[in-house]
Amino acid sequence: MKKDLLSIGDLALEEINAIFKLAEQLKKNKKRFAKTLSGKTLALIFQKPSNRTRVSFEVGMYQLGGNSLYLSPQEINLGVRETIGDVARTISRYVDGVVLRTFEHKNCLDMAQAATVPVINGLSDFSHPCQALADLFTIREKLKDLKKVTLAYVGDGNNVCNSLLFAAAKTGMNISVATPKGYAPAENVVKLSQAIAKETGSRIKITEDPFSAVDSAQVVYTDVWASMGQEEEINKRKIIFKDFQINAKLLAKAAENVLVMHCLPAHRGEEITDEVMESRNSIVFDQAENRMHVQKAILIKLLGKN
Ligand code: CP
Ligand code: NVA
Repeated sequence: MKKDLLSIGDLALEEINAIFKLAEQLKKNKKRFAKTLSGKTLALIFQKPSNRTRVSFEVGMYQLGGNSLYLSPQEINLGVRETIGDVARTISRYVDGVVLRTFEHKNCLDMAQAATVPVINGLSDFSHPCQALADLFTIREKLKDLKKVTLAYVGDGNNVCNSLLFAAAKTGMNISVATPKGYAPAENVVKLSQAIAKETGSRIKITEDPFSAVDSAQVVYTDVWASMGQEEEINKRKIIFKDFQINAKLLAKAAENVLVMHCLPAHRGEEITDEVMESRNSIVFDQAENRMHVQKAILIKLLGKN
């Protein structure tokens, strides 16, 4: 049966660990897997812009011996030119997997239900699972044991925040989330993460105080204040989020040698200062690089079997 990756919840802990292990091998030895996906094609159906996700999937597919096909918003015009179900059923006859970047998460669910090939969520308004997997892989690389790490996420309770919550809960990493009032992650995301965390020992804290969230954290993470599709809210959000910037003053509360992460693109001077982005604490480009290694592992696991 085909397997999709729409949310971290689709993966058992063993599957996450297997992805990390394979990603480690892929990062060490690019040549060894050069023919693994030979003859396979991956379609990237994107309704939003992208640098990291598009480039890392396309190059990753090429490095595995496969082919990729980028389909821009105008090309497929999902749900307008034809229904998502019809797109999924047609494209399944041509390609071996789909990466979908879209607005409503329901589009991912509809695509996965109708497609007969694996569907990977390349970002929806609800989640960004490939990002969170690459992020945890990066933290594991730097700090080894995720169970001994506390990550503080400061900013908007958005798609990236949701996926980090799920990923932390699954792997036993501790996570503190600080958002302004009204911008907390959705209640069902928090509840579900807390339920998973009970099994794994992960501690989850949700607060409106950024200083309390970063207190002694080994990793501090942020994302843009206005996500793609919310651009017209940026002026309002700049006021609401002003105390949630990752800057030297906030980082002084964190653990010594704190690692600073950002999924990128960064809006320097808004959610993160230039100084912090350029500091030796910042691992944002290692994080970006790891998108490719981790996604190659995901592609092998999902597309590689048949
Ligand atoms: N982090 C991330 O997904 O970047 P892009 O939007 O550039 O793909
Ligand atoms: N939260 C951001 C993440 C970008 C990678 C967005 O959805 O635009």
